[in-house]
Amino acid sequence: MKKLLMAIAGSTLLLAACSGEEAGESGETVDTAAGEEVYTASCLSCHGDNMEGASGPALEGYTADEVLSAIEEGPGAMPANIVEGEDAQIVAAYVEDES
Ligand code: HEC
Repeated sequence: MKKLLMAIAGSTLLLAACSGEEAGESGETVDTAAGEEVYTASCLSCHGDNMEGASGPALEGYTADEVLSAIEEGPGAMPANIVEGEDAQIVAAYVEDES
């Protein structure tokens, strides 16, 4: 029983160490993680795992502004305002960086 408790305490510490590391890094790193999260939830199904394209085109070389207006306008078959506000800005920056 004592061993089990120690194992639980140990893994909790490990988890705390990991998330602490992420939050402690520069804002950019945190935004990238958040951007990836929004991308995965809202864009991946149409633009592919690595932005290589699927039912939507590959996302390559777009600036954050271009991505933002695509999100607002919903060109062609893409739904408009699929994400809004801060999420839209975060994912736009992420697409600009990663594509
Ligand atoms: C339901 C499928 C779908 C989803 C979800 C989707 N898109 Fe698209 N997207 C498309 C299609 C289809 C096009 C091509 C539209 C056209 O020009 O005919 C497109 C085009 C684009 C373009 C290019 C616009 C241009 O003017 O060339 C960008 C940038 C883009 N999408 C970003 C995103 C981002 C970022 C997300 C997530 C927030 C997203 N898309 C979610 C289907 C989707």
